Parts: sequence; structure tokens; C-alpha cells
Amino acid sequence: MTPEAKQTTPEPGSSTPGGSRWRGRVALVTGASSGIGREIVRELTRAGMRVAFCARRRARLEALAQELPDAQSSLPLVCDLQDEVQIAAMFAELRARWDGVDVLVNNAGFARGASLLDGASSDWRAILEVNVLALAICSREAIADMRRRDVAGHVINLSSMAAHRVPVGSAMYSASKYAVRSLTEGLRGELRAMDSAIRVTAISPGYVETEFALAATGDPEHARRTYARYPCLQAGDIARTVRFALDAPPHMQVHDILIRPTRQPL
Ligand SMILES: NC(=O)c1ccc[n+]([C@@H]2O[C@H](COP(=O)([O-])OP(=O)(O)OC[C@H]3O[C@@H](n4cnc5c(N)ncnc54)[C@H](OP(=O)(O)O)[C@@H]3O)[C@@H](O)[C@H]2O)c1
Repeated sequence: MTPEAKQTTPEPGSSTPGGSRWRGRVALVTGASSGIGREIVRELTRAGMRVAFCARRRARLEALAQELPDAQSSLPLVCDLQDEVQIAAMFAELRARWDGVDVLVNNAGFARGASLLDGASSDWRAILEVNVLALAICSREAIADMRRRDVAGHVINLSSMAAHRVPVGSAMYSASKYAVRSLTEGLRGELRAMDSAIRVTAISPGYVETEFALAATGDPEHARRTYARYPCLQAGDIARTVRFALDAPPHMQVHDILIRPTRQPL
């Protein structure tokens, strides 16, 4: 594969006067029914991209699609990322509709109160299936699309500060994010080995005020307290960071951005 793309729309690595270089390109954002993923969909839509987005909660996806300005440029896809058959069907639909993916944002992920001493194996398995395996499967499929069409695309993985130290009680979640770090670097290495222009980025946030804490514990009061200790990051902060990594010039590959709320101690 030659690193440069043969495109009718502008090459994503080149600047486009008056607009994003990704205008008209296709993004897939996973975990878009809330929080960071939903905000990334809005941000990429503002950049003029065609945006497909997935999660399990159909009503949430449809509500998001309703608010986006152009129905032709948005594609909500119900997909449980624990099910590889559903992942394959999602990529098949994307290929049929838009001929594949130029940008993949592997955002879906969750934690659960699953300690190593008394956590349920089913919780551990679910964390690894969504946060790690689905991310690897989606990356493989999206990069196959990019290579087939000779596009200098971009894969962005939502990692975490939990990939850089181990919060006590969340070691399996932390392990999943250490794995994301490894997969990000491994993917970059394989792409380098074939002299590909496809870029890979990880973003590692600290506390972001979303539904994450509620999903992890099921306890609204705990979730409220989690985000009340100091001003936390907002989903829009992360969405703008995704845009920053995407809009970097082609010779510049952002590897891992660590972002904490200013007052987060660890
Ligand atoms: N919030 C934080 O403090 C924080 C910090 C560091 C990193 N992160 C990372 O940021 C990413 C987004 O988290 P968030 O804060 O936006 O959390 P969130 O508001 O709870 O959103 C999580 C998203 O993942 C989706 N998801 C979960 N399981 C899924 C499955 N089996 N199949 C498909 N989609 C699934 C959820 O959709 P459905 O439930 O509708 O399927 C939802 O859209 C995650 O990877 C998380 O680890 C978050």
C-alpha cells in the first residue's frame, strides 16, 4: 500500500482552506449513547464528517441522530460490542452505506465494582470484552477499510489515567486500559512496519463528568460525590482533544495525551 491516499475528497493529511481536512470523511464512534462518545459525535459532525455511531441503547442513539443537522451524514447503529456477530454486521452496514471507515474512535468502555478479591468473573469478562477485545476487533475492521481504499485514516482509542497507575479496587478496569495502551502501541508498530500513513492515538483522561460513575456502581449518590470533589473534565474537553489529534498535520502523530482535572491529585 502506498502511504498516500487516492481520493476524490481531499486527502485527510492535507489542509483544506476554510474547513476541516476531514470534511466528508467517514467516522465511526463507539459508545455514543452518552458522555464522551456523544460529544465526539457532535464535534466530528461540526467538522463536516459523516458520522456513524453505536451503542446498545437505541432510543439514546435516535435522540442524538435527531439533533444532528443532516440526516444523510449521520448513521446510528445499535450494536452490543460484546457480540462479534453484531460488530461484523455493523461494519457490513457501514461498508454498504459509505464504503467503510476513515476514522475510528474506540470510545465505548466501562468500569464495574469488580475487585480482584471478590469480583464476579462475569464482570471481569465483560470489561475485557468491551474495553479490550471489541477495540481490537473494530480497529482491525476499520484499518482493513482504510487499506482497501488506500486512505491515510486515523484510529483514536479512549484509554484512561487508569492505564498509567492502578486505582485500588479497579484493577480489572485498569488492566483493560493498560491493554488499550499496549494495543495502541502494537498497532502503531504494525502500521509503521508496513510504512502506512494511518495514525493511531490514545487519549488518557482522568475524571470526566459523565454517566461513567453511575454505570460503574449503580449508585447515583456515589456518582454525584465522585464528580463533586473538584471541577472535573467535561465530555467536550475530550471531544476537542480528539479533534486536535485528528487535525494534527500528517507528519505529526499524537501518541498518548494524559489529561487530568487540574485539581485531581493522582
Ligand atoms: N468518565 C471518566 O471519568 C473516564 C475517564 C477515563 C476514561 N474514560 C473512558 O472514556 C470512555 C467513555 O466513557 P464515558 O465517561 O463517556 O462513560 P459513559 O457515559 O458511561 O458512556 C459509556 C458508553 O459505552 C457504551 N457501552 C458500554 N458497553 C457497551 C457495549 N457492550 N456495547 C456497546 N456500547 C457499550 C455505552 O452505551 P450503551 O450502554 O448504550 O451500550 C455508552 O455509550 C470509556 O472508554 C471510559 O473507559 C472515562
